[in-house]
Amino acid sequence: MSNLTVATGDLDVETLRRDFPILERTVASDRPLIYLDNGASTQHPRVVIDAMSDCYSRYYANVHRGIHTLSEESTRAFEEAREAVAAFIGAAHSHEVIFTAGTTAAINTVARAWGDWQVTAGDTILLTIAEHHANIVPWQQLAQRTGCQVIFLPLTDDGRIDDAVVAEHLDRHRPKLFAFTAVSNVLGTEFPVKRWASLAHDFGATVLVDAAQAAPHQSLDVLDWNAEFVVFSGHKVCGPTGIGVLYGQESILEAMPPFLGGGAMIRTVTTEGFVPNELPMKFEAGTPPFVEAIGLAAAVKYIGQVGLEKIHRHEKQLAGIALDRLATIPGMRIFGPAAEHRGGIVSFVIEGAHPHDLSQWLDRRGIAVRAGHHCAMPLHQHFGVAASCRASFYLYNSAAEVETLCGAVGDFHRRFVSGSRRNRDSV
Ligand SMILES: Cc1ncc(COP(=O)(O)O)c(C=O)c1O
Repeated sequence: MSNLTVATGDLDVETLRRDFPILERTVASDRPLIYLDNGASTQHPRVVIDAMSDCYSRYYANVHRGIHTLSEESTRAFEEAREAVAAFIGAAHSHEVIFTAGTTAAINTVARAWGDWQVTAGDTILLTIAEHHANIVPWQQLAQRTGCQVIFLPLTDDGRIDDAVVAEHLDRHRPKLFAFTAVSNVLGTEFPVKRWASLAHDFGATVLVDAAQAAPHQSLDVLDWNAEFVVFSGHKVCGPTGIGVLYGQESILEAMPPFLGGGAMIRTVTTEGFVPNELPMKFEAGTPPFVEAIGLAAAVKYIGQVGLEKIHRHEKQLAGIALDRLATIPGMRIFGPAAEHRGGIVSFVIEGAHPHDLSQWLDRRGIAVRAGHHCAMPLHQHFGVAASCRASFYLYNSAAEVETLCGAVGDFHRRFVSGSRRNRDSV
């Protein structure tokens, strides 16, 4: 058993859980909810729900438009939210934080605004095979528009990528862009963002980091990473849906043409044309998700107060427990690296069982996990499976919950896999 299973007591999970009203509910005939689908969306502490409800009930009005009290108050709260997010990711300027609808919208914005501007036929975009579809399809669409090529970095058997392989691909293909996930949403692998960004720059590539699975779980420092673009979603950091962040370094955002056109993103419009607004509004056409931004600010302040280092250590411990316990189940195949190289995500399959059947069985015991391809079909194809079962942990999950998950997976195996095999053999 790895020593990661020894709890350090860094997080007071029982107390933290009281901040999340949804965790009080029961499911599946009055069983306590064990929510292990945090890689998809995390739950909300009361402070986030209250911050949004306070805006709706006291000072809701469209931002940047009205010269009246409510609009001034909502505009102030919206811009304060931008400052809170900038502080959360360590950005030098709050105008480098562009609010989008989520990670997907942020990557599509870069693919359109930067890609259509910078990429031409014969250019290359370098990705890893571990990307979420959100960081694959926009580049394939760019390839359809421009004739550029999309190249994928392969993985080791344990779901990692050697720096030497990255360097070799950068050298061979000289990509215009290296876009990669900081943490795989299936394998949990934590990739070395700062090292890869620096390597990419040595070969003249621009860098986009998909931080959707990093921002909720580890302290982000975009200045230290030094990537031109960093993106993440609100709904995975205890915030609301419908909001995400496109961080871009000032110089590239200044130079890049806007993508969506409409209100707010312009300084002037005439019948002849338009002059774009300054940052960040240049990239925020139309009414922005300002209530969601206020909720997001409350969320990042909350997880910042809990402590990202503590959250990260806690999740690694939970992943360590899951890896140890699940590995004892016959026919178990766990994807991804050892606990020291992964965050709180564990995806697996059991030989002879469909992940959907297993997750349905777990649901009847009150345990929410995800089954499917997790928007990472190329990664599943790489490992030769169509789907997997994914348990993903967060700050409010306890070691006892992970033990319950592993016990239930073991029961499933005894009952439906080895049991049915015994029955077959005895026929
Ligand atoms: C690594 C990664 N990238 C991108 C996304 C897409 O995020 P969204 O659906 O919030 O746009 C996800 C969501 O699961 C993800 O895990």
